[in-house]
Amino acid sequence: MSSRDIYQLMVKAKEVLPYSLGKCVVSVSGKGGVGKTTFTALLLKALIEEGMDSILVVDADPDTNLPDVLGIEVKRTVGEVVTRMKKDIDEGKIPPGTDKELMLEAMISETLIEGSSFDMLVMGRPEGEGCYCFVNLLLTRILDRLTSNYRITLMDMEAGLEHVSRRTDRDVDIMVVVTDASKMGLLTAQRIRRLAREVHVEIRQLYVVGNQIPPELEGVVRKRAQDLALKYVGSIPFDKEIMEYNLVGRSLLELPSQNPAYAAVREIAQTIRLV
Ligand SMILES: Nc1ncnc2c1ncn2[C@@H]1O[C@H](COP(=O)(O)OP(=O)(O)OP(=O)(O)O)[C@@H](O)[C@H]1O
Ligand SMILES: [Mg+2]
Repeated sequence: MSSRDIYQLMVKAKEVLPYSLGKCVVSVSGKGGVGKTTFTALLLKALIEEGMDSILVVDADPDTNLPDVLGIEVKRTVGEVVTRMKKDIDEGKIPPGTDKELMLEAMISETLIEGSSFDMLVMGRPEGEGCYCFVNLLLTRILDRLTSNYRITLMDMEAGLEHVSRRTDRDVDIMVVVTDASKMGLLTAQRIRRLAREVHVEIRQLYVVGNQIPPELEGVVRKRAQDLALKYVGSIPFDKEIMEYNLVGRSLLELPSQNPAYAAVREIAQTIRLV
């Protein structure tokens, strides 16, 4: 067997078992307010409870909601660091010969929140006008390197499609599109898939997850997903405890294991072979 055959076998195996062969990037997206952040938090809980180590969680939504839902305090975001770097470059404050990529990498690693069961990177947003092209190029390379240090990277994306066209996801192993019981929710999944092809973002697997869908409409949503050739992998029920935790600011990681919404996410994680 040639090395090319072996490589192709590995690529094929990775399609079947996305997690088992090393690094796996999971991106959670969908239209606004459908439950992306909630799903990300519950999936993280499922991974932790399965004893998975080496997890990086990326809050890629500029609105930065995930730390709140996980009860994590954020001191500095990547956006703030990037803004500072750009300002220093513009003002000529960086001495010639300085390796800017290395400098930015060191600054970003300082923003990394290291926990006992996972690490977290909060992107936030850069401030001010002007072109961030150069800094963004460095950022892309640094993030690629950082994610390759972890077995699994979970990314909570901002609502809509822009993250795909800006290639924030770059190549992902699993894209989970969360939807409510709406035509727009499912169309977002279809548009993400199309746009990814147009801008050459490789999504190895795209799955749709329903959230807070009235049980009597579940069949209709599944059928609509099927008509759009989308893989519907499960639904998360409406859950009063989630609402309550949100209201009092309690971490979703503390939900009891028998919570029905969490149990549904655990089952979805099994279906998509993450646990
Ligand atoms: N299954 C559920 N049961 C009860 N409440 C839920 C459930 N899923 C989400 N919620 C609540 O709905 C609201 C929106 O959820 P969430 O923040 O996860 O959505 P999102 O898609 O991340 O929103 P955004 O587009 O603003 O990022 C939150 O208040 C959350 O607590
Ligand atoms: Mg969110």
